[in-house]
Amino acid sequence: MRILPLLFTILTDKEMDKEMKKLLSPSILACDIFRFKAQLDDVSEGGAQLLHIDIMDGHFVPNLSYGPSVCSAISKNSSLPLDVHLMISNPSQHIDTFAKAGASYLTIHAEVGSQAEIIEILMKIRSLGVHPAVSIKPKTSIDTVLPFLPYIDMVLLMTVEPGFGGQAFVSDGLSRISELRKLLDELAPSVDLEIDGGVTLENVAQTVKAGANVIVAGSAIFGANDIVLQTKDFLAQMNL
Ligand code: DX5
Ligand code: ZN
Repeated sequence: MRILPLLFTILTDKEMDKEMKKLLSPSILACDIFRFKAQLDDVSEGGAQLLHIDIMDGHFVPNLSYGPSVCSAISKNSSLPLDVHLMISNPSQHIDTFAKAGASYLTIHAEVGSQAEIIEILMKIRSLGVHPAVSIKPKTSIDTVLPFLPYIDMVLLMTVEPGFGGQAFVSDGLSRISELRKLLDELAPSVDLEIDGGVTLENVAQTVKAGANVIVAGSAIFGANDIVLQTKDFLAQMNL
């Protein structure tokens, strides 16, 4: 009598493991601009599955980065799907442009509008054939994502304050990942959990164990001497 529930639990856990893909999305913010193409090729050769592109407007975040023309150029020069993170105050005005520029994922921040406005933008992203995702900053409550779950393929949990690469992983990052994973398992198991900021070769395995399955890493990958090897090492840690 007791064996059956136990067997069921083991099978369920194995099934869940099998279904949970793990993707590495190197953030090009940390690329050496003069060796850009070679470094994109390196992460591709190392086995990374996505390329993370940070778009910053100097308003939602204090920093500026690049726009759709850079996305477009990358999509023509790399076979990796583009994971575009819009750290901008007015994403609705730019969705079409980034979709045309080759984005596979478009992530908007939950903090930039009302619930209804965010849902409308997420639906627009979906209608353009792009994966919609919503991001929350480290101080934003995890529950904020609840109303968006039916409209998204991924949640991006920021593990540093957005705006700059090379910062330290926030102290409550692991507990927030676990909390969000629990919520997704209960309410939207097909939604991916991406984390972004302060991820290193030393902490990546812990973040995956806590429940993250899409990992963004910038300086920890592009700052390495051997980017191909570092990408492989990251993937090995993610799949321990
Ligand atoms: C920060 C960006 C990140 C950044 C991560 O606002 O969203 O994608 O590139 O950089 P690291 O991995 O260096 O913390
Ligand atoms: Zn990012």
